[in-house]
Amino acid sequence: MHFNTKLIHGGISEDQETGAVSVPIYQTSTYRQNGVGQPKQYEYSRSGNPTRFALEELIKELEGGYQGFAFASGLAATHTIFSMFRSGDHIILGDDVYGGTFRLLHQVFEKSGLRYTLVETNKPETIAAAIEPETKAVFLETPTNPLLKITDIARVAEIAKEHGLLTIVDNTFATPYFQKPLQLGADIVIHSATKYLGGHSDVVAGLAIVKDEAVAKQVGFIQNAVGGVLGPHDSWLIQRSIKTLALRMEAHQSNALQVAQFLVEHPAVAHVYYPGLADHKDHDIARKQMTGFSGMISFELKKEAQVASFVEALRVFTLAESLGGVESLIEVPAIMTHASIPKALREQAGIKDGLIRLSVGIEYVDDLLADLDTALQKAGE
Ligand SMILES: Cc1ncc(COP(=O)(O)O)c(C=O)c1O
Repeated sequence: MHFNTKLIHGGISEDQETGAVSVPIYQTSTYRQNGVGQPKQYEYSRSGNPTRFALEELIKELEGGYQGFAFASGLAATHTIFSMFRSGDHIILGDDVYGGTFRLLHQVFEKSGLRYTLVETNKPETIAAAIEPETKAVFLETPTNPLLKITDIARVAEIAKEHGLLTIVDNTFATPYFQKPLQLGADIVIHSATKYLGGHSDVVAGLAIVKDEAVAKQVGFIQNAVGGVLGPHDSWLIQRSIKTLALRMEAHQSNALQVAQFLVEHPAVAHVYYPGLADHKDHDIARKQMTGFSGMISFELKKEAQVASFVEALRVFTLAESLGGVESLIEVPAIMTHASIPKALREQAGIKDGLIRLSVGIEYVDDLLADLDTALQKAGE
């Protein structure tokens, strides 16, 4: 099956019992057993639920992994993956990852002895230099949030393998529609399914997909032991949304390319970060490993003092955190999504206070361009 067909028919796509073409929402916490110690397929919904399983099977197929796992949020997925490591272990972390991922390592796992080094993962040679005897994994995001840097996944995975490390890739921005990290050599993929996979800004969810059986056993154990699982209704919502992923991602990308070009040419704009632009510094790697550039753009205004008045003058773009929904959103990472990263580290990573991030939705593109144009003019007055 073509990937686009798998989006609709992959995994478990209909009810085995009744033939219902939409997987039922098994809104149950527990399951009647045949006799003492004789459960049927499911025992208790933290350990397994048919609706969640349908989603887990689907994402496993889409990413090309051995097993998929669904969690209550993207961070719950990342928490489970970090829980595979122990006190004294060391992780190499991309310096431009989502602020909450950094906070999880810096303020939660570091307390129990998990160590990390921040590295510019888009310069793979810096990864090799950061490897210590206790290093267990490289965790990276590509494209990154918010600077849209691209890391060469195949190169990192090669370095990681030479040193016996796991390569973990947050594939939230690209989705398996545009990028398949496991095929490029990664071991684990993570998603904030809250974003493009959910696609409608109405559910918080996370996914992890694992390539190897032994790692899958560990992840499955922790998923059940910690218990941050996705509920049946939210599992159903994500599976339903994934059916239209191809259409949505094409529309996001098409709009984003036009918005990026518009911003590049606008006199009030100082710099545009979009991997689909030929002068983006990682454009060649993006072309090599992705089949599209997705819908996220960041940019800086020439006059930083105008950021607030520009953002507040917009009418179609909504000022809100999150991304990947059908509606266009705008935010200021230093004050919003990335405020949990100390200012010095943020600036070191190139996230200036005036950086603006757009999640370009799938509205009629002329309305988006007109909205940006009007707000840029107002901010300049
Ligand atoms: C790239 C990326 N990864 C992970 C997360 C965390 O996901 P969630 O908010 O679903 O916990 C986010 C959230 O913004 C994100 O942007």
